[in-house]
Parts: sequence; C-alpha cells; structure tokens
Amino acid sequence: MTTAQATSTSPADLDRNDPLTLIDVDHVRFYVGNAKQAAYFYAHTFGFQVDQVADLTTGSRDEANYLLTQGNIRLLLTTPLSADHASADEIRLYGDGVKDIALTVFDAEKAFERAVANGAEVAAEPQTLSDENGSITFASIKTYGRVQHTFVSRTGDYELTNVKKGGLIGPGFKKIEGFALNEYNKKNPCGLKYVDHCVGNVEEGKMNHWVDWYESVLEFKMFKHFDDKDISTEYSALMSKVMASGNHLIKMPINEPADGKKKSQILEYLEWHNMTPGVQHLALRTDDELASVAALRSRGVDFLALPDTYYESVWDRVNTTLKAHGHEAVKEDHQRVKDLGILVDADDEGYLLQLFTKPLQDRPTLFFEIISRRGSQSFGKGNFKALFEALELEQERRGNL
Ligand code: FE2
Repeated sequence: MTTAQATSTSPADLDRNDPLTLIDVDHVRFYVGNAKQAAYFYAHTFGFQVDQVADLTTGSRDEANYLLTQGNIRLLLTTPLSADHASADEIRLYGDGVKDIALTVFDAEKAFERAVANGAEVAAEPQTLSDENGSITFASIKTYGRVQHTFVSRTGDYELTNVKKGGLIGPGFKKIEGFALNEYNKKNPCGLKYVDHCVGNVEEGKMNHWVDWYESVLEFKMFKHFDDKDISTEYSALMSKVMASGNHLIKMPINEPADGKKKSQILEYLEWHNMTPGVQHLALRTDDELASVAALRSRGVDFLALPDTYYESVWDRVNTTLKAHGHEAVKEDHQRVKDLGILVDADDEGYLLQLFTKPLQDRPTLFFEIISRRGSQSFGKGNFKALFEALELEQERRGNL
C-alpha cells in the first residue's frame, strides 16, 4: 500500500483496539506573531482556504485561531491576544513555527494514557469541549524541543469526516464568509493534498534518543536510515532517520547535525531557534508536481534555486536507476521540470519529484517541501548533495556559514 492510499484508509479498516492507531493528521498548529496576516500569506502564496476562525468575535479572548485548509491538510494558525498566553513566550524565543502535529485517534484519552504509560511527558491532560453539535477530546504529549503531539478524538458534527466536508473543526469556530481569496483559490487550485512527512531537527547526539522515543512512546517503526556519508557536502553534514506510524499515515524523519568543515544547516536552524529542537519542514503532497510548482511560483513562493549543472546529470542518474529496477523512465517533460527548477530522484520502487521553499519567515527555520511520488517512498537521497550545496549558498548569504 502506498502512503497515498494510507491517508484515505477508512477508519473502518483500522484497528480500534490499539489506542495508538492513527486515523489522520488532525491538524498542524503553528504559533505565529500575527495569525490574521499569516493567514493571508498562506492563502495567497500556497492556495489555502481561510476556512474558519475563532477570535474575539466568537468569544475567544486569549488567543485567535485561523483554520486553513487544502485537500486533506489542515493548518491551525494560533496567535496570542495577551502577554501571558503560552504562545507569546514561544514566539519571542523561536519566531513563527510549528507547535503541534495533532493526530486523530479513536479515543484521545486512551491514546494519551498509552503514550504516557510508554514514557511520554505530559503537555496537557485530557479535556473535552462539547456543544449541542458534538464534541472534541484532546490531550497532548511533549516530543522534541518545543513541539508536541495532541491526540484528538471527535464525535457528532465534529467528526473528521464532517470537518473534511467543510464542517466546523470544533466548538467556538465559525466559517469565514465572503473572503475573496477563497474564491480565487477555488478557481486556481495549487493541488496540495496532504502532509507527506514532517521533519524535526534535534541537537547533535540526540537523533537516536528521539528515534527511540517514537518507537517506544508512539510505537512507530524505523522506515529508512541515512548516515552522514549520504548527506554531506565538503562543509556541512547531518544525520537522519525516518520513523513511520504503523499504517504509514505519517512519517517523521529526525535530523541531527553532523561534524563538517562549516556549519551544518541543522545547527544554523537550532541557533535561530534558541538552540531548541523543532520542525524543520513539512512536506506537502501533490499528484502533479509541475502544475503545483507552476501555480505556487506564479503566486510568488520563493523556492530554493539549484545550480543549472544539476540538470546535466539528473536524467542519466534517475533513468538508469529506474531502468535497473524495471520501471518506466520519468514521464514528466524534462524541459519543464528544468524550467520549474524541480528536483528528481529515483530508487528501486520508482521516482519522486520534489522542491523546497526558502524559509517561510525571516528566521532560517521552518520551510515547506512540495513532493509528488511516482512509486518512490524515499526522501530524495540522490538530491542531497546538490541541495546542500544550494542551501550552503543561502547560508552564506545570511552570514551563517
Ligand atoms: Fe522532506
């Protein structure tokens, strides 16, 4: 089964008896300095619908929340309305970024209890919000650095199947009506479907600790393993291991810096993130990389630029690998792939197309990856060298190498 199918697995096919069975990525919560403006940014540049809001007008007096949706992606942008809100300190320390990868489960309380029994540190005890339409129960555990996982279970109108059809994500939210960008985005889709993977940066020497954590606490399994021989240039390096949930609903690669002559991109991230681990990138899946990247470029998304020399060797490299494993060559138009600056990589299962944005905020921290898979379930290992050289150029421009 591919991950594309895994995300659309019906809850009926999942093991209800296992409290850590994940149904979906419920939402990804960002802490941002100004959620109203951030909502415009993600709507304009990435084509998200600014679908729902909970703010002063709905009686939320300590924080404002905007729900952004596209395909099966739900981003919740949270901003503090007072100095003593927990997010205010985090924004001061880390800038805008991902706080929470929330996971839909059958019973949030049971999932939480199991994770805590497995050794998780508590971030928030179980709580239920309900009204006449239904309820949501949530409980949170701490993972690496400033990040947490919230288990969410839902009933009535707030069940995820209803949310996916446009229903409210929870009590206290209201639909946003008459927002012109939403109409434009419906007519001009960017084609982003769901979160393919979510990458964390942790401190040097801590990767294996967090790999063990995902294994023991969330009962994930190791998916792929890269070492610093795979992922290094002359100057900087990292190590990465990929953890996957049982049904491959989500993959969580974990990076740590490795020694190099110059500063690792992971160390650069940490230094601008108060030396605290956090989410480095969210990879958003599309079925049509070329159409999505063309749409995003036309909206002004700032992508990482690769040297032209990349395309001198990529087709030989990729098509040789594909042929060796009995797969068709890359079907996308090679010239258009080059014109759009998209990266290609292949492995024994097929190929993938991917492209990385520059940081989404002024600090060199969180970015997005736009990825399309044609059989390959890996992460673009063959691109690491070219990519890291491009990243180092950016680091140098920022004075951080
Ligand atoms: Fe990635």
